[in-house]
Amino acid sequence: MAWLEGVFLDFYPWSLALHVISVISWMAGLLYLPRLFVYHAENKENISNLYEIFNKMEIKLFYFIMRPAMISSWVFGLILIFTPGIIDWHDGWPWVKAAMVLSLTWYHHALGRWRKALADRTSHHSGRFFRMVNEIPALLMIVIVLMVIGRPF
Ligand code: HEM
Repeated sequence: MAWLEGVFLDFYPWSLALHVISVISWMAGLLYLPRLFVYHAENKENISNLYEIFNKMEIKLFYFIMRPAMISSWVFGLILIFTPGIIDWHDGWPWVKAAMVLSLTWYHHALGRWRKALADRTSHHSGRFFRMVNEIPALLMIVIVLMVIGRPF
């Protein structure tokens, strides 16, 4: 598959740019959706149509921004992994980044389950719970950026 590696090498600046654009969009959703959940969870008893408005906002954010952004982060990230000379798996940082990215992907799916429970009115989580879990993606992102930019080990 040497020809494919050649294509990936030519495409490298573009795959890197598209990867960074994708992760920015994905992170925006991962950081903002739980904020919507906070207001959503705190308005359970609200008799106006506010609850349905939150549902609609969460569906749009999750399915039209976060899911495509997660998929393109993975696609361009994997292209970068298979680009020759980019990642040396003897270093420690790519493994730490991989663990953090898998955690972010797990968190993305947890948000999907919490969204559905709020929409179905079966969620028992409080606004405080969503305020707390909102810190998770921020912490993971800080570690990821320190790994890819600083390459400490
Ligand atoms: C979704 C799975 C992901 C995979 C498979 C992946 C993989 C990669 C690879 C192989 C590179 C190339 C490293 C280099 O050019 O030196 C890269 C660059 C980068 N990644 Fe990811 N990544 C993923 C997710 C993320 C996430 C979630 C973030 C941020 C929160 C992120 C931030 C970055 C940044 C900032 C760079 C540019 C580093 C530089 O040019 O020095 N990545 N990624």
